[in-house]
Amino acid sequence: METGYLKTLSQKENSCFKKEVALQNKFGEMVGRSEPLSFVFSQVEQVAPMNVTVLLLGETGTGKGMVARAIYRRSARKDMPMITVNCAALPANRIERELFGQGEGAISEVDHRQIGLLEQADGCTLFLDEIGTMPLELQCKLLRVIQDGEFERPGSPRTIKVDVRVIAASNSNLGEEIHAGRFREDLYSRLNVFPITIPPLRERKEDIPLLVNYFIAKFNKRTGKKIVTVANETLNTLQEYHWPGNVRELESVIERAVITTRGDKLQILERFEVFRRDAVQNISEVKTLADLERDHILLVLLKTAWRIEGNKGAAILLGINPSTLRARIRKSGIRRP
Ligand SMILES: Nc1ncnc2c1ncn2[C@@H]1O[C@H](COP(=O)(O)OP(=O)(O)OP(=O)(O)O)[C@@H](O)[C@H]1O
Ligand SMILES: [Mg+2]
Repeated sequence: METGYLKTLSQKENSCFKKEVALQNKFGEMVGRSEPLSFVFSQVEQVAPMNVTVLLLGETGTGKGMVARAIYRRSARKDMPMITVNCAALPANRIERELFGQGEGAISEVDHRQIGLLEQADGCTLFLDEIGTMPLELQCKLLRVIQDGEFERPGSPRTIKVDVRVIAASNSNLGEEIHAGRFREDLYSRLNVFPITIPPLRERKEDIPLLVNYFIAKFNKRTGKKIVTVANETLNTLQEYHWPGNVRELESVIERAVITTRGDKLQILERFEVFRRDAVQNISEVKTLADLERDHILLVLLKTAWRIEGNKGAAILLGINPSTLRARIRKSGIRRP
């Protein structure tokens, strides 16, 4: 139960109970119970069994790839493969060849590349990742595939019929792409029949403890470590951070922390700059690293009421030895008021 779990979180330390890890995993591999993510789950359940095009939107690392797989696994086409094409990873002519193949005359008979992925995906699911980067000249051909289920191989007059279910994903603002003339509005409206927006992690901070526990369990298993607790302070820090790389970034932070932690309590060595919009906008006033360090030390000292040593001391928060911290305080000219 969510309340039961949160109760555990409000205790001084949290345990990564195996049962809870299992509970979090009810929706395939996707962890999270926040309201915005639950809404995504309900949309997935609603649309997965229907043979319609789905557009997944969301910042990098929010889990679009995972949602695509969840839809596929819940669809009537789950026994056929899902074919993924990352439109950003290939140059335009390669994408065309990969997707649409090549006309009979254009290549030798033994070349299997003659058959494009679209033909291979007949009856299957096609996941078009990073659709926003698809070259304009191919967008029109793709629209016809989605709309009428037909296309011609480049260099061939023969029309080929296919039945593919398209799931497309984009981490760019497609509205802006349309405005800039890089994305066709008609393709967008065709893809946008059932859009699912996966919210950034900073808008569902309540998922962070669940994800942390889940990733600890995952990396415990991989590394043979036995980390069982996370200090509430650590969790608070993680919840305050704005996570520009979303769940992918959190996953790497936890992976690194699991590797470097000694003992059974997760220690995160890196420090997170709390996002300040004014700091970003005022980029002309670039601070030196020494200034940043001084400001940060001062901030932490103010937080800990100038306590340097001990569990709640600034040295632990900053991840350095108390003697190192004292030396840096002296060096940067910080004085206790
Ligand atoms: N809710 C979640 N639960 C567990 N793991 C997650 C969750 N969301 C994302 N991840 C993990 O985070 C990483 C990034 O997810 P994914 O690749 O699906 O993001 P994406 O939105 O497709 O990113 P990009 O736009 O950069 O391709 C993956 O390792 C995935 O396993
Ligand atoms: Mg992805």
